[in-house]
Amino acid sequence: MPDATYAVEMRDITKRFPGVLANDHVNFGAQAGEVHALLGENGAGKSTLMNVLCGLYRPEAGAILIDGQPVHFHSPRDAIQSGVGMVHQHFMLVQSQSVAENVFLGVRNASFSLRSQQMAAAVQKIGDQYGLPVDPNAKIWQLSVGEQQRVEIIKILYRGARILVLDEPTAVLTPQESEMLFQTLRAMKNDGKTIIFISHKLEEVISIADNVTVLRAGKVAATTPAKGMTKAQLASLMVGRQVFFQFDKAPAKLGEVRLALAGVEAQDDKFLPALRGVSLEVRSGEIVGIAGVAGNGQRELAETVTGLRKLTAGKITVAGRDVTGSPPLVMIDAGIAYVPEDRHHTGTAPNLSVAENLALKAYRKPPIGHGALIAPDAMQTSAVDLIRAFDISTPGPQTPARKLSGGNLQKVILAREISAEPQVLIAASPTRGLDIGATESVRKLLLAQRDEGAAILLISEDLDEIFAISDRIVVMYEGSIMGEFPTAEAEIGQVGLLMAGGEHGAHASAV
Ligand SMILES: Nc1ncnc2c1ncn2[C@@H]1O[C@H](COP(=O)(O)OP(=O)(O)OP(=O)(O)O)[C@@H](O)[C@H]1O
Ligand SMILES: [Mg+2]
Repeated sequence: MPDATYAVEMRDITKRFPGVLANDHVNFGAQAGEVHALLGENGAGKSTLMNVLCGLYRPEAGAILIDGQPVHFHSPRDAIQSGVGMVHQHFMLVQSQSVAENVFLGVRNASFSLRSQQMAAAVQKIGDQYGLPVDPNAKIWQLSVGEQQRVEIIKILYRGARILVLDEPTAVLTPQESEMLFQTLRAMKNDGKTIIFISHKLEEVISIADNVTVLRAGKVAATTPAKGMTKAQLASLMVGRQVFFQFDKAPAKLGEVRLALAGVEAQDDKFLPALRGVSLEVRSGEIVGIAGVAGNGQRELAETVTGLRKLTAGKITVAGRDVTGSPPLVMIDAGIAYVPEDRHHTGTAPNLSVAENLALKAYRKPPIGHGALIAPDAMQTSAVDLIRAFDISTPGPQTPARKLSGGNLQKVILAREISAEPQVLIAASPTRGLDIGATESVRKLLLAQRDEGAAILLISEDLDEIFAISDRIVVMYEGSIMGEFPTAEAEIGQVGLLMAGGEHGAHASAV
C-alpha cells in the first residue's frame, strides 16, 4: 500500500547496548485501525524497539513518523503527547494508591480540585467504552494482575493514546482474561486506534492481528498479513529453522514419595482462606500438574511448600522428613527448589550480575561458597557453563540481571533452580514469557529432571502445558482439590469444568 500513510512508522531504527546490537536498521509501520503483532525470540529486540517508539530509549539512528510527520521523543511524556502509549512487560503502577489516583498520576492539569468522584467517573467511562471493568476506588495491591493491566490501558487511553503498544499483555493473563482483552483490542481497533501487540503465543497472534512483523536477532525477518499464516510458518520465521511442536516423553518411573501434603490450610494476603485441606503426593520421577484458574490458591500452595507462607493447619513432609512450618532455608536444605511465577520480585536480584543471580543458591556450598567466603572464579566458571547450557542471551556473566530481556531472566531462574539438582522442584508457570524454542527446551529440561528422579510440581494456567508434560493432573478451585487424573485418562473438557468449580460452582466463577 504505497499511498497509505502509516499512523506510526519507524525507519531504519538502530539501537545498541554495550555489546549488543538490539535493533539493526529496523523498518516498521502500522495504520490506524490495525492490530500489528510483533514476534521474535527472547532477546530479538521487540521491547527495545517499542521502548524507542515510546520515548524511553533514544536510537543511534533512524526516524519515527506519526501520521507521516517526523517526531523526536525525549521521554515517554513526549510520546504520549503525540498519541503513543505503552503498557510495559512489567507494570509501573503505584501499589499503595487507588486505581483513579494512578490513572491521574502525572497528568499536568489534574488539579486537586479534581475530586475523587470525578476521577472515578472518568475511569469508569473509559472502562465502559472499551470493556475494561475495574473498581476505580480499589488500591492497586488489591487487584489481580489482569485488573492491573486494565488500569495501565485506561491510564494511556486517558492521556489520549491513539497508538497503543502492549508488551506481552497475555503472558500474565488467564485464558478468560485474554479473551476479554481481545474484545477490548477489537473495540479500540474499530475506534481507529493502532495496536502494536507483542506476544509469544502464535495462535493468538494469528487470530487477533492484521499484520505481523517478525524480528530475528535485532533485524526484521519478515512483515506479512497474519491471515493464512500457520504457527509453523511464523515459528520458522522467528528462529530461522523448522520447529516441532510435539515431543515424546518416556513413561514415568515412579519412585518414593518425595513431597507429601496432608490437610494443608493457609491464608492469602488478605487473611482469607486460600488453601482448604489440601492433600497431595508427588513421587520421585513424576510431574504432577496443578490445573486451575489463577487466584484459586496456586500461589499460596507454592509459597506454603517453599516455606514462604505460614500454614495454619496440616502437615508437609519432604522425602519423609517433617518440615511443617519450616522457613525457606530449611526447605532449601530439605531439597526443595522453586521457580516462582513472579520472576522480577521474588525470582532475581535485578542489580546483581547474571553470575551472582545464578549463584544465589549455590553460594552457601562449595565449590562457590567456603564458609563466609565466595570463590569468584568458581562462580564465574559455573555461570559460563549455565549460560551455555540454558542458552541465556546476555553480553556476559557480569551484566546486571535487569538488562536481560524478559525471557532470558526467566532462563536465569530456571538454570539456578534446576542446576541445584533438587529432590522436589516447584515450577510456577515456568514457560511464561518464553519464546517457542525456549519453551520447548524448558519442557525438555523438566522432563529430563523427572527422568533423573526429581519430583516435580508444575503449577500452570496453561492447560496445553499441563497436558504436554504432566503425568498426573490435579485440579484446584477456591483452594480445594476438585479432582485428580492420570494425564493419559484426563479429558480437557472435564478438567476445564472442574477448574470452574464443577457443575455447582460454574456460575459462581464465571467472569
Ligand atoms: N537496558 C538494557 N541494557 C543493556 N542491554 C539491554 C537492555 N535492554 C535490552 N538489552 C539487550 O538487548 C537485546 C534485546 O532485548 P529486548 O528486551 O528488546 O528483547 P525482547 O525481544 O523483548 O525479548 P523477550 O521476548 O525475552 O522479552 C537483548 O540482548 C537484551 O539483553
Ligand atoms: Mg521483551
